[in-house]
Parts: sequence; C-alpha cells; structure tokens
Amino acid sequence: MQIKLTLNGKPVSEEIAADLLLLDFVRAHGCASVKRGCETANCGLCTVLMDGKPVLSCSMLAARAAGHEITTLEGMGAEAEELAAFIADQGAEQCGFCNPGFMMNTIALLRENPTPSDDEIRAYLAGNLCRCSGYEGQLRGVRAFVAWRAQKGRCAE
Ligand code: FES
Ligand code: FES
Repeated sequence: MQIKLTLNGKPVSEEIAADLLLLDFVRAHGCASVKRGCETANCGLCTVLMDGKPVLSCSMLAARAAGHEITTLEGMGAEAEELAAFIADQGAEQCGFCNPGFMMNTIALLRENPTPSDDEIRAYLAGNLCRCSGYEGQLRGVRAFVAWRAQKGRCAE
C-alpha cells in the first residue's frame, strides 16, 4: 500500500507492507533514536510524536501514520539538545538506552504543561522504564530544565 506522511518535517511517500510497524518504518528512514524494547507497549523506548502527541511506535502500524506528522528525536533540534544537557548533568543517562523515549515524552509534557509539578512529571513519565537509574536523576534534570526555561523567559521579558 502507498502512504504519504511527514517525517521530521520532510514529506515521505512510500509503498509499504500493510503490517509494517511504525517503529520499523522510522528506523528504516534513519531514525535510530527510536529503540525497540519490549514491543508490548510497556517500556516507552519507541516513543515518537504523532501530530505533537506521544505514541508508541512498536504498537502502531505505519499505515495509521498516513497523513500525519511524525517526529522523532532526530527532528527535535535545539529543544532536545538543551534538555539532554540537563539530563546528562544530573547523571541520569547511564547506558542511555531509555533516554530518547524519555526525552520525547518530556518534551510532549512540557508543551502541554510548561511548569509541571514533580507529581505531574512522574505521572507523565510513568510509562518510560529505565533499568539503570532510580528515576531521581531524570526528575532532577527535568526540574532543572523547567527552572532554567522559566529564568530564561523572565530574562527575555
Ligand atoms: S518497545 Fe514500544 S513500548 Fe517498549
Ligand atoms: S539509563 Fe540505562 S535504561 Fe535508562
């Protein structure tokens, strides 16, 4: 079947198998940040944004993305680079395998709610599993990023 969609800002038109997963589609297009973890919608490693909202690409057919805008970490630009620096600064990135999915959900959260509480951060990121950390480093990193953005916003006023 033929699908057309936007991937990281670029139009893509392609003939695909009807059972192709979105995970395999984006990885075949060089989006190696999107990881294959549990494949059962439980770990968050395969998170991408569809029209700005997080979806689990291991549990979605590429065909369902037709007509939509798909964004992976490769398409996030400066926003992702800035957040990554705060996460790394807190020592939260150990093996790093969980990090892209974690970042995609964090960015989605901050677009919905720019100043989340700790409980709101924990709730939104509950679907992102990390086998290395106790999640405290990630929480500190997100908290520090939120505070830095608020400060930056005040300086710009
Ligand atoms: S690989 Fe998709 S949720 Fe784990
Ligand atoms: S840092 Fe290793 S899985 Fe999260």
